[in-house]
Amino acid sequence: MHKQASFNILRVDASARRDRSITRRLGDEVLRRLLTEHPEAVVTVRDLADPVDFIDEQWVSANLTDPAARDAQQRAALAASDRLVQELEAADTIVLTTPVYNFSVPAALKAWIDLVCRARLSFRYTENGPVGLLRDRPVYLVMTSGGVMFGSAADFASGYLRHIFAFIGIQDVRMVPAERTSIDAQASAINALGMLEQWLPAGSVPATA
Ligand SMILES: Cc1cc2nc3c(=O)[nH]c(=O)nc-3n(C[C@H](O)[C@H](O)[C@H](O)COP(=O)(O)O)c2cc1C
Repeated sequence: MHKQASFNILRVDASARRDRSITRRLGDEVLRRLLTEHPEAVVTVRDLADPVDFIDEQWVSANLTDPAARDAQQRAALAASDRLVQELEAADTIVLTTPVYNFSVPAALKAWIDLVCRARLSFRYTENGPVGLLRDRPVYLVMTSGGVMFGSAADFASGYLRHIFAFIGIQDVRMVPAERTSIDAQASAINALGMLEQWLPAGSVPATA
């Protein structure tokens, strides 16, 4: 009998906080709504509070070597990065939750980005510039800031993340922004849930602000 392929959700969390994290709480709500639509979905969680490695000299050198010419050591240097790209490739939907840290993304998330932006796997350069190699799919981008307005001159995070996703082929970025949480955390969460409502209406699912 023909078995239907599963629906895969990749959740990536970037806050250093596990407790009291606004992004993680909003991410839970996004996931709850996605699972209402796709109860059979397989969820993979990549929690960057358990950090991934930084790229290093071996990694860069292995990455620059033609895949057919890589030796065992070079393949080993790229193994974790290969796995992270595979997680992205396999995902039908991505939920990325991240705070703004020092006007940009947390270093833990930047480390992940450096591992998933892989020439030949997730992008390639052509005469006309870079081309993303991953198929487009929705990314729910849950972001918080303490004081920065998204889209303002001081926001080096949200535009950057959109750019990175587009760079690897993913255009369908759905922002769930909770900005300026230090000014009014509740208003900020309500606003984020209002944005989420456009993408994934709560229906009968209780919302948690
Ligand atoms: C190390 C650190 C740096 C931060 N830098 C900024 C910043 O530059 N701009 C800003 O608006 N908020 C900044 N914040 C506030 C966080 O974005 C905000 O508290 C967010 O809700 C944290 O996410 P979390 O609740 O999921 O942990 C910073 C917070 C921390 C811990």
